[in-house]
Amino acid sequence: MSEVVTPVLGDFGEAVITGLSQARKTIPARYLYDVRGSELFEEITRLPEYYPTRTETALLKGHANDIGRLAGKGRPLIEFGAGSATKTPLILDATSAPIYVPIDISGEFLEESIAALAASRPALRILPIAGDFTQPLTLPPLDGPLTGFFPGSTIGNFDHRAAIDLLRSFRATLGSGARLVIGIDMRKNSRLLEAAYDDAAGVTAAFNLNLLRRINRELDGTIPVEAFEHRAVWHDGLGRIEMHLAATRAIGFSVAGRRFSMRDGETIHTENSYKYAPGEARLLARASGWEPLAFWTDPDALFGLHVWTAVAEELQP
Ligand code: AVI
Repeated sequence: MSEVVTPVLGDFGEAVITGLSQARKTIPARYLYDVRGSELFEEITRLPEYYPTRTETALLKGHANDIGRLAGKGRPLIEFGAGSATKTPLILDATSAPIYVPIDISGEFLEESIAALAASRPALRILPIAGDFTQPLTLPPLDGPLTGFFPGSTIGNFDHRAAIDLLRSFRATLGSGARLVIGIDMRKNSRLLEAAYDDAAGVTAAFNLNLLRRINRELDGTIPVEAFEHRAVWHDGLGRIEMHLAATRAIGFSVAGRRFSMRDGETIHTENSYKYAPGEARLLARASGWEPLAFWTDPDALFGLHVWTAVAEELQP
């Protein structure tokens, strides 16, 4: 008698099958970042429409002295989701950190950025952690207090509840007396936001559509990629920009042997990027065990850079 073998799909496969089986199709944004997706994201950060990276970089440079004073000098620095670590030299200079602990899920990215840092800063002790910063982490033994660094408004890619849980876990990981330097994108004119997430050169569209190519390649998919278009839509009530992949005609396809169909105009929701007004960012801090110490923005109020301090355990709500 022959046995029916159900192939083990892995995290990506499970997430895609589950997400495409829902009435409103959705795939978690973290799967946008395969090797090609990570390259395209780096390209996005240099686009004229994508203001967050250059604006946050200017804030880190312009407020280096105050950042050092408020975030603490000479403390170990822990970077959550270090990625290509392009802003790291700025925060290391501002805080005179003697020890740098980058945490990133991609060991490859970590190795590259560490090699560059080690070459330019021989005195810096680098203790990398290849891991998922959304999961509970144990840091190597370090002489506290510690400073955390979470730039790029990555917090915006988490729904409010998940954002609070994540910031609480940073608070727990960093311990008492910790400071957090965090970049948070701001609410603004919807035209600017939609342009930042749907640029004229089509790089963000390529980044979003790459997810379908990844599914076809890694999960034996037959998705007709040319039948999809990228959409970026601002939802004022929810305070978020949504990325979708919209079917431009009725289609059918399979992924890992499962059949799916989509109507003309139906979408797969691939990312949320929440934006926070200053008062909302303060609420986020206080809901997650932190107290705001400082906030800076640029003259056009595009992006916010914050320094928070850990609230003592016994004072937390
Ligand atoms: C990584 N993250 C903060 C980016 C953002 O702005 O939400 C991802 C991105 N998606 C499209 N463009 C950039």
